[in-house]
Amino acid sequence: MSEFKFKALVVEEVQENIFKRSIKEIIYEGLSEEEVLIKVEYSALNYKDALSARGHKGITRKYPHIPGVDAAGIIEETKGNKFTAGEKVFVTGYDLGMNTDGGFSEFIKVPEGWVIRTPQNFTSRDLMIYGTAGFTAGIAIYEMQRNEITPDKGKILVTGATGGVGCLAIAMLTKAGYYVVASTGKPDKKDFLMRIGAKEVISREDVNDSSGKALLKKQWVGAIDNVGGNTLNTVIRSMEHRGVVASIGLVQSDKIESTVYPFILRGIRLIGIDSAESPMDYRLKIWNKIFNEWRINSHEDLVKECSLFELDKEINLILNGGQTGKVIVKIESEK
Ligand SMILES: NC(=O)c1ccc[n+]([C@@H]2O[C@H](COP(=O)([O-])OP(=O)(O)OC[C@H]3O[C@@H](n4cnc5c(N)ncnc54)[C@H](OP(=O)(O)O)[C@@H]3O)[C@@H](O)[C@H]2O)c1
Repeated sequence: MSEFKFKALVVEEVQENIFKRSIKEIIYEGLSEEEVLIKVEYSALNYKDALSARGHKGITRKYPHIPGVDAAGIIEETKGNKFTAGEKVFVTGYDLGMNTDGGFSEFIKVPEGWVIRTPQNFTSRDLMIYGTAGFTAGIAIYEMQRNEITPDKGKILVTGATGGVGCLAIAMLTKAGYYVVASTGKPDKKDFLMRIGAKEVISREDVNDSSGKALLKKQWVGAIDNVGGNTLNTVIRSMEHRGVVASIGLVQSDKIESTVYPFILRGIRLIGIDSAESPMDYRLKIWNKIFNEWRINSHEDLVKECSLFELDKEINLILNGGQTGKVIVKIESEK
């Protein structure tokens, strides 16, 4: 295909560690072997995208850069043999939006091995409502189930409940039949959390114990933690015997202090969740469950849609911990 120009949200390092983001025109210069060009219809905003968009060398080593770890759209051109032009596809994770230009763009160029076909009964928009957040929540549910945490066993705690991963975890766990307790720092979002499936809503402070006790009252048979720090430390000490904790995020802190007692006296299991580098066969297993038994009934309550041009303020909001629900980005291309 001949050269053409398209628009994207570009982050530049204007001075050392000073970053600026703006919508810019990019020149498309063709594909390498086994790459595909995808015309992006929808992307999604994740906490990691916001860090990359603010300038974060732990996530994105080199700038200028286009963030966006998620993209769904249509194959425009291919130099591989897995897909044909016109097919509906999506990508989450791998290096997309980290050191490979990402989904906040009219087009992305990626290895075909990262790409998954969108099922017939899903649109690109549906797909991005899940995106990395839903996929990550799906891994956590899958790992709980593999460790015998079935709905009859007890309550599941979700921390950082109003965030992207939190909301999708609540809705998907509910669909899978679990009793979900949501922990939030936004007391005014209680009704919202109950509408998407939570049976109880507790305060962030209820999961922030500073007593120093090695073990706390047993409360949760499973937990999905998006927060890290003392919240995760509190969760670990509050698990039922043989409970499973999925460690996903670090918005509070990347540090955890714990003793071995919850592990050796209660046999709790702490499972790390890495969505980005999940192997393709594992990915397909999780997505298949999302497309079927964990497919949430109504999305719209938890979705906020914006355009590429409105993304800047949504990035600031997620960085301040102020987002509620899942932000999806509609990409309108002129080509
Ligand atoms: N492991 C993986 O593969 C993977 C994949 C996706 C995301 N993640 C990580 O998971 C975390 C959540 O991602 P996200 O995209 O859902 O982010 P998000 O939309 O910003 O959600 C994070 C939520 O955490 C709560 N929160 C914010 N600041 C907090 C603080 N200082 N202390 C306690 N709670 C706080 C807020 O919920 P409330 O106000 O309701 O408490 C916020 O909405 C991030 O750390 C992200 O990097 C990891």
